[in-house]
Amino acid sequence: MTRTPVNVTVTGAAGQIGYALLFRIASGHLLGADVPVRLRLLEIPQGLKAAEGTAMELDDCAFPLLQGIEITDDPNVGFDGANVALLVGARPRTKGMERGDLLEANGGIFKPQGKAINDHAADDIKVLVVGNPANTNALIAQAAAPDVPAERFTAMTRLDHNRALSQLAKKTGAQVSDIKKLTIWGNHSATQYPDIFHAEIAGKNAAEVVGDEQWLADDFIPTVAKRGAAIIEARGASSAASAANAAIDHVHTWVNGTAEGNWTSMGIPSDGSYGVPEGLISSFPVTTKNGTYEIVQGLDINEFSRARIDASVQELAEERDAVRALGLI
Ligand code: NAD
Ligand code: LMR
Repeated sequence: MTRTPVNVTVTGAAGQIGYALLFRIASGHLLGADVPVRLRLLEIPQGLKAAEGTAMELDDCAFPLLQGIEITDDPNVGFDGANVALLVGARPRTKGMERGDLLEANGGIFKPQGKAINDHAADDIKVLVVGNPANTNALIAQAAAPDVPAERFTAMTRLDHNRALSQLAKKTGAQVSDIKKLTIWGNHSATQYPDIFHAEIAGKNAAEVVGDEQWLADDFIPTVAKRGAAIIEARGASSAASAANAAIDHVHTWVNGTAEGNWTSMGIPSDGSYGVPEGLISSFPVTTKNGTYEIVQGLDINEFSRARIDASVQELAEERDAVRALGLI
């Protein structure tokens, strides 16, 4: 193996998502089948023993691409030289708990982690925040890392994107692979807006193929937006394998690029596009190439979409104001 290994740090490595994620990173699904990786597992002290067990299992897989595993509870060690950081560790929402309740509990985790990334990560660091509330946690981490370009901090809405693809495929009888240019706008929360007005199904406009605005408003949008809560209700725990899969998709697309004629959804710091206040970490349609991303520009936003994007962005602004009041940004 001649390539230099990529250092990938995973926080919350002993949790549910961590368990579903680490084996796929080590087997080459995150970065590519020819890219060796070194894993850093960051946990809190209570999680270290379980992380050691997971590391033993990783060893036992004898993955050819895995060139080392380090386990730590010190963010300064965990992010040292990190090229990719997956910030998963957080307190998951449990039954009856609103995501807003999580702001304070989780804010304290992401500020020191952002600072450690600022001080110790590699110059090309790419950060994906999965731990909820993901967009605002990403904002907290980004604000604590003034020396890292803000656009390197992203939040995961790829799970929402994948959920929307699947629901739309079911409704129309299409294959998921036939659907392109779907967008998740806003927050990874119940206010998110899955937009099919620019999406295509086998080259035809998806909204026209569906031809049923009532289904969009009363079925599709709430099903996608409340899917996380439905899974918690059914499983008694939040989504794990599908979340890990989406994290793999997010980073893989960011690093390796979107296909011609398609785009994806990522929570990224707004540059003011589509009326989203600059700096909020909001989901947009993006294309990616050579490890960078760009917001897809020039889409016509109809009234139906505008109201929904605005509502989700309003929630993000309120979350930002709340963490600002708590001194977290
Ligand atoms: P989990 O409770 O199984 O695991 C969380 C792990 O994080 C635990 O092992 C815990 O010890 C660890 N942890 C807590 N604080 C930490 C810290 N400061 N540093 C390092 N590790 C720390 O939870 P899970 O099911 O793996 O979910 C993790 C997070 O992902 C939750 O916030 C959940 O809501 C979120 N989530 C996000 C999405 C999304 O689409 N963005 C989807 C599903 C779940
Ligand atoms: C999900 O979308 O499955 C999770 O973000 C739900 C949650 O709140 O943990």
